[in-house]
Amino acid sequence: VNAEEALARACALARRGLGDVEPNPPVGAVVWNDGQVLGEGFHGCFGGSHAEVEALAAAGERSRGATLCVTLEPCSSKGKTPPCVDAVLAAGIARVLVGCADPDPRHQGRGLQRLLAAGVQVDLVDLPEARALIDRFGTSLARRRPHVIAKWAMSRDGAIAPPRNGHAIISCETSRDTVHRWRASLDAIVVGVGTVVADDPQLTARGSAPLLRPLRRVVLDPSLRTSPNCELVRTADETPTWIFAADDAREQDEDLLREAGVVVFRQPRGEGWLESVFATLHLQGCLRVMVEGGSHTLARCLVAGIVDQAAIFIAESALGEGALPAVEGLALRDLTPHEVAEALHLTDCRITRSGDDTLLRGFREGA
Ligand SMILES: NC(=O)c1ccc[n+]([C@@H]2O[C@H](COP(=O)([O-])OP(=O)(O)OC[C@H]3O[C@@H](n4cnc5c(N)ncnc54)[C@H](OP(=O)(O)O)[C@@H]3O)[C@@H](O)[C@H]2O)c1
Repeated sequence: VNAEEALARACALARRGLGDVEPNPPVGAVVWNDGQVLGEGFHGCFGGSHAEVEALAAAGERSRGATLCVTLEPCSSKGKTPPCVDAVLAAGIARVLVGCADPDPRHQGRGLQRLLAAGVQVDLVDLPEARALIDRFGTSLARRRPHVIAKWAMSRDGAIAPPRNGHAIISCETSRDTVHRWRASLDAIVVGVGTVVADDPQLTARGSAPLLRPLRRVVLDPSLRTSPNCELVRTADETPTWIFAADDAREQDEDLLREAGVVVFRQPRGEGWLESVFATLHLQGCLRVMVEGGSHTLARCLVAGIVDQAAIFIAESALGEGALPAVEGLALRDLTPHEVAEALHLTDCRITRSGDDTLLRGFREGA
């Protein structure tokens, strides 16, 4: 392979991280020398290691004097992981071929300058394929809210709970394991108070993957209906638990929750409440969050346009008449995954098997 082909390979690797790395951009990297690929890597999940670091580790000692082909300018400042430029220099890379510059004006060119100053040959190719990978990243930089993923498990007939707010396990074990893995790279799981009242959930990451970020549990509860005896409140000392209330919620209710270790935020009730909740989450350092239900909360988030991505597990069984629709006000009954994607205005969709379920993942149009 020649250097351009190696860069094209890096673009293909980058795409494997789509959906798992946002609001970071997907990035792929290849260590290349004398027509041979020596190591490959990509940014696989938010909070996880960067593509360059993965590729350099795979190539090992053979990185010395080699070319690193990377889709995006290597980062030069310490973020969640150490700067990639340091890793590139430590590995003794002779040349760096870059697909496109960092669109963030605070970082643009910095990484490349540091490499040049250290005597590394730098070629910025400005490849359209590499620029296309970061289109969505450019938009998310401008927003003052976290990247929001809406996730739910629904029956074949589009429901997320049996009649009368009962509780049913809808997705299979494989799907539930996947969710626990996803949770490990989130800053917060968000649910409506209806879900807390109906299910008394734990909302923790119980998979084998270590937490990459401090995971908070967030409840949307304008009138403070969350019981001080529920699982979330009882374990608030172990796992951060934040409840968003309206300004007019009862003081006594707030006191009981605070005593148990819950952090209570208040926002003015009415229009704009949801937007200010997500703006506050952003101010509190949340960059990637997952809204996990229920029906009304998903509907409100979708209508407010604060959902960037959706992940829907569709089971083979049905819940029948009177069951709770997955998204209040939206008919998702007996649709194919493609039709569900259309109804939700999803683009760049991937439809895969997840054990006994079908997993539909996609991005909201315009997000
Ligand atoms: N299968 C799944 O994946 C899944 C996941 C989660 C939940 N569920 C099921 O979903 C059911 C609960 O759904 P649900 O629709 O009844 O309740 P929900 O969406 O969990 O909670 C709704 C309540 O949250 C508050 N809220 C949420 N967003 C708000 C906003 N933007 N503005 C103001 N208030 C907001 C309101 O509380 P107030 O009414 O106090 O104002 C609202 O009534 C349960 O049966 C549960 O089992 C299923």
